[in-house]
Amino acid sequence: MKIPEIRITNELSLPKLGLGTWEMGGRHVPDRSDDKKWIDAITFSIEKGIRHIDTAAIYGGGHTERLVGEAIRQHPRNEVFITTKVSGDRVQFSEVIRSAADSCKRLGIDQIDLFLLHWPNPRIPISQTMSAVNKLLEDKVIRYFGLSNFPVELIREVMLFTDAPLITNQIEYNIITRNGGSYNRTVEDEIIPFCLKNNISITAWRPVAKGTDLGKYPVIAQLAAKYEKTPHQIALNWLINKPMMMAIPKMSTPEHILQNIEATQFAMEPEDYQMLDAMKA
Ligand SMILES: NC(=O)c1ccc[n+]([C@@H]2O[C@H](COP(=O)([O-])OP(=O)(O)OC[C@H]3O[C@@H](n4cnc5c(N)ncnc54)[C@H](OP(=O)(O)O)[C@@H]3O)[C@@H](O)[C@H]2O)c1
Repeated sequence: MKIPEIRITNELSLPKLGLGTWEMGGRHVPDRSDDKKWIDAITFSIEKGIRHIDTAAIYGGGHTERLVGEAIRQHPRNEVFITTKVSGDRVQFSEVIRSAADSCKRLGIDQIDLFLLHWPNPRIPISQTMSAVNKLLEDKVIRYFGLSNFPVELIREVMLFTDAPLITNQIEYNIITRNGGSYNRTVEDEIIPFCLKNNISITAWRPVAKGTDLGKYPVIAQLAAKYEKTPHQIALNWLINKPMMMAIPKMSTPEHILQNIEATQFAMEPEDYQMLDAMKA
């Protein structure tokens, strides 16, 4: 199934739905007990049309990247787009360079498609971190760069230190969280409007609110009944209907993978999106 895309630069379009991998293969240290399950989930997602996979150097203490590498090995390299992140605790020049090399090795790839600074680090000057990012771009170790969990004032600062396009800011956002994310408290009020104005896409992490019960919200339940969708499909459809917005749910059961893909294939009436916009959780 073809997932709708957003155009980010003249050369780059990205799908509105990608695959998140946090907790596949462990949280902060490797957990190898379910490797086959995670590789199967990533493989099944790709076979069903998912092209963008989001991971990070810290996930599973590096093991998650190895699982992603294992799964994508069976597919032509240009059919998958890999985002990974350098830990906010490793943003000195040499550490950024090393982290990208280590990620490439674990992923089994020569070049990272999109490399994000995972979270801001006030102790290291952004100029230093961006020197490393610019070198990685020049050396073609990474194709594109972006940010994660960055507030507006720091996005502005990053933009001072590079001519390269800033592809995305990956932030916590879903129908319930809105401005109440754990890192950023101004997502709807400041970050999204700033990104839109500056042609920076937004990647919503935790887009299906961790799979918690969304049917308990009357507006979502009402629309789920009206469109014959699950509450999570309504919430995801609302999210990706927004301009320059991508979502990367972690999904590992075939049921969730298929439901989330299907959530990209329908449109609701404008007044229903407005009702969801106005919903107070
Ligand atoms: N940049 C950052 O700081 C940051 C922070 C956190 C996460 N992330 C990224 O964002 C991704 C997504 O966030 P997340 O994993 O925290 O939360 P999430 O995607 O909102 O929730 C994942 C949970 O929801 C379930 N789920 C998925 N689709 C569903 C559906 N259609 N109906 C019901 N339940 C569904 C999954 O179950 P199953 O697995 O059983 O299918 C899983 O338990 C992460 O995996 C990671 O790649 C980035």
